[in-house]
Amino acid sequence: MKIGILISGRGSNMVALVDAVKRGEIPNSSIAVVISDKPNAAGLEKARARGVETIVVQRRGRTREEHDAEIIDELRKRDVELVCLAGYMRLLSKDFVQAFADRIVNIHPSLLPSFPGLNVQQQAIDHGVKVSGCTVHFVNEDLDAGPIILQRAVEVKDDDTAETLAARILEEEHGAYVDAVRRIVSSRATR
Ligand code: GRF
Repeated sequence: MKIGILISGRGSNMVALVDAVKRGEIPNSSIAVVISDKPNAAGLEKARARGVETIVVQRRGRTREEHDAEIIDELRKRDVELVCLAGYMRLLSKDFVQAFADRIVNIHPSLLPSFPGLNVQQQAIDHGVKVSGCTVHFVNEDLDAGPIILQRAVEVKDDDTAETLAARILEEEHGAYVDAVRRIVSSRATR
């Protein structure tokens, strides 16, 4: 299965997927391309260093639909079959979701449906939850609301800050994302 990864920043989940594919931990798959909407995304250099093709597709004042159309085009040119969002900070248009129906997944740093959106680790702390974690889910037209593939739980400690909690969740994210993509590629997870 040809995988395309969309990033906007650090790219640690992207690196986890690329390295897992290289190590044969996601059999029968390859990373076709890493696309960023931000030219300065730190993940771009990490992808290049691993020999993965990278492309920058900036929004440049275009509508969401026009921007997405260019990304869809780049993904199709490379026969991408599965799109993994990995810290991609833009909402996808309806056209994008429909172009890759049931073939887009995302990782989110909370146990959905609790805390969709942004700054979710701070929200978890403000709410006083004792357990948080991460969720890998299929992407539909609603934010962080598509069918859940898997979740991993993480303890929230009394002295946690948003930063310490985010770091503890991130450690679980990498393995969770690899596990979820492995299940999809082997058809053990379907919409
Ligand atoms: C992760 O916490 C992910 O769950 C969220 O954005 C962050 C991206 O981190 N969607 P990275 O770019 O993968 O390091």
